[in-house]
Amino acid sequence: MMKESLIILGVAGAVQALDKRQGFNQSIPASTTLDGTAIENPTAYATPFVLNVEDMWDLLIGPVATAATTTTVSPTPVPSSSLIPPPPLYYSPFPTGAQHPMEPKNESWSFPKDFWWGVAGASYQIEGAAKADGRGPSIWDVLSHRVAGFIHDNTTADISDNNYYMYKQDIARVAALGVKAYSFTLSWSRIMPFGRGPVNEVAIAHYNDIISTCIEYDVIPMVTLFHWDLPLALQDTYGGWLSENIVGDFVAYAKVAYAAFGDRVDHWFTVNEPIVFCNDYPLPAMYFKNFSIPNAHQPFLCGQSVLLSHSQAYQVGKAMMPNATISYKNNGGYKIPQTNSSDDALAVQRAWDFNEGWFSDPIFLTGDYNAAVKAYVSSFLRPFTASEKQTILGSADSYAHDAYTAQFYFAPDSGVQACIDNTTHPLYPTCANTSYTYSAQDGGWLVGAAADPLSPWLHKATDWLPAFLHYLADTWAKDLPIVVSEFGFAEPFESSKTLLQDILYDPIRSSYFHDYMRAMLMAMSEGVNVVGCLAWSLYDNYEWATGFSAKFGMQYVNFTDPALPRYYKASFFEYARAFEIYQEK
Ligand SMILES: *[C@@H]1O[C@H](CO)[C@@H](O)[C@H](O)[C@H]1NC(C)=O
Ligand SMILES: *[C@@H]1O[C@H](CO)[C@@H](O)[C@H](O)[C@H]1NC(C)=O
Ligand SMILES: *[C@@H]1O[C@H](CO)[C@@H](O)[C@H](O)[C@H]1NC(C)=O
Ligand SMILES: *[C@@H]1O[C@H](CO)[C@@H](O)[C@H](O)[C@H]1NC(C)=O
Ligand SMILES: *[C@@H]1O[C@H](CO)[C@@H](O)[C@H](O)[C@H]1NC(C)=O
Ligand SMILES: *[C@@H]1O[C@H](CO)[C@@H](O)[C@H](O)[C@H]1NC(C)=O
Ligand SMILES: *[C@@H]1O[C@H](CO)[C@@H](O)[C@H](O)[C@H]1NC(C)=O
Ligand SMILES: *[C@@H]1O[C@H](CO)[C@@H](O)[C@H](O)[C@H]1NC(C)=O
Repeated sequence: MMKESLIILGVAGAVQALDKRQGFNQSIPASTTLDGTAIENPTAYATPFVLNVEDMWDLLIGPVATAATTTTVSPTPVPSSSLIPPPPLYYSPFPTGAQHPMEPKNESWSFPKDFWWGVAGASYQIEGAAKADGRGPSIWDVLSHRVAGFIHDNTTADISDNNYYMYKQDIARVAALGVKAYSFTLSWSRIMPFGRGPVNEVAIAHYNDIISTCIEYDVIPMVTLFHWDLPLALQDTYGGWLSENIVGDFVAYAKVAYAAFGDRVDHWFTVNEPIVFCNDYPLPAMYFKNFSIPNAHQPFLCGQSVLLSHSQAYQVGKAMMPNATISYKNNGGYKIPQTNSSDDALAVQRAWDFNEGWFSDPIFLTGDYNAAVKAYVSSFLRPFTASEKQTILGSADSYAHDAYTAQFYFAPDSGVQACIDNTTHPLYPTCANTSYTYSAQDGGWLVGAAADPLSPWLHKATDWLPAFLHYLADTWAKDLPIVVSEFGFAEPFESSKTLLQDILYDPIRSSYFHDYMRAMLMAMSEGVNVVGCLAWSLYDNYEWATGFSAKFGMQYVNFTDPALPRYYKASFFEYARAFEIYQEK
């Protein structure tokens, strides 16, 4: 990689954070002067500051840490001593089985030869090298550096796994366990430091080398365009996903990526988990420009921009790469009705409608929102045009779901209808209550073993996976293949362990992968067409607002050692073993 060749980021591409053309202060004439009215209304004053990328870091983020290693590391062969799997970790439940039964292979189960199993990571969570080679800041650099109390352990991902320099090693290590696919995200603000305008050729060269390295190791590269690290310039210029201005910018960015990588990358995801990042709006007050949009509307404005951006990026991508598989990543747990009452059934349906259905109904079923969402948003969102609906409908080649867990759903105490009729009801507009436990009548037990307390949404609920996959197939995927685009587990309290061998022995995560793969095989044997899965995550990384304190890695990374050494955990072997046994050779 030629990091010296950085030649971008002149004034021409500089962010114009306060540019009136972007919609800011549109109603204030440029000639507004210092008369009394203007003084009463300070927002009447606007200045066309021009910031270059370095100014943005200095003024909006502050000092950034750098890793001990800031040049690309050559891969070292993984020693065979690191590839010895752990002894058996599990036991059949009482009363069956001898104390140490050997689990027999179930001859009804198999993964087809072309099933791809892989591991996933995401740009901000793993790359580090925050400012290197012209990367522009993203909203997550603000959230981690500036917003007091936002990150549980006050850490940033300035260095994180230092994947930006250690990717060759990382790919070699996953390949050594036979992993077939590696899913990573492009950092939009690395490729376009302001989210639009100039393209940073050093970033293109970087991702080109990641892709080439995958191919060299016989690992299928899979690319996500957006995994939450929105270029800060776009947020502060027009509100990021809150504005339809983002649609053109996202599509332009997607085109750059397709043109650069589409000759070698066949698997693309446009956006990761829009339910989550849209519900992150409003962003914390005082750290981002305020566009005075009512808080309750913000997630749905974001959702509207996502549907337009995704669908257009899909169409453009298919035109450029007819053989590529392009989709986006849904998320959400399986929704179990807590009782068989009709009101609980209604609550469950509304929970699907306002979560998965928010995006999946338009994309897979109708081109437009479902009735429950539409009833809520029609007072403040413009309707889609006929041609937009046409573009949205069918804009995915697979149904990709980040399917981690399951949860109980039930009607609010007031009943569902009383909530729908009451805009101040705490569960409005979804009007579904949730719980991780069975009802008191059913014993009040948790749905399954809890993950780390910092990931309270996650429980091991693999028993529900076959029903979950059937539901996704019957409701949205239909004839399209299903991809389990993320699943994984935060071993409870792993961050408080101090002994290496203790950390590497992760029994609940291991049993999660063991049972998850069995449940997936079961669903597949019943006809659900799952074509691939991506475990989260290839190694410990920056878990958003929990910092480094909740661990999802199948490899341990010692973040206190400047060399950031990686070690396989037992769970990684358990995951790989499912394919050694069940994948057709
Ligand atoms: C994080 O910083 C806050 C002050 O912003 C402090 O109160 C808190 O104790 C810090 N937490 C940790 C884990 O360092
Ligand atoms: C944005 O400004 C409005 C007033 O214009 C205020 O009501 C709102 O709380 C602010 N929101 C944020 C997130 O700062
Ligand atoms: C797409 O796949 C078909 C069938 O495998 C092949 O003939 C064609 O050349 C491919 N097109 C491109 C653009 O790769
Ligand atoms: C709901 O009904 C089904 C089928 O009749 C039954 O198997 C299940 O136990 C019932 N669930 C609850 C929570 O009552
Ligand atoms: C949600 O359910 C819990 C019990 O699990 C209950 O205490 C709470 O009042 C319910 N909330 C609403 C708004 O109905
Ligand atoms: C609406 O919900 C609020 C908050 O729970 C409650 O105080 C109020 O009484 C409800 N209004 C009606 C008409 O039920
Ligand atoms: C992590 O690295 C630090 C610094 O080298 C070392 O003191 C510590 O023992 C290591 N921790 C583990 C669990 O290996
Ligand atoms: C083998 O797989 C079938 C089909 O999924 C299932 O019904 C059966 O219970 C499995 N047997 C064992 C011993 O796991």
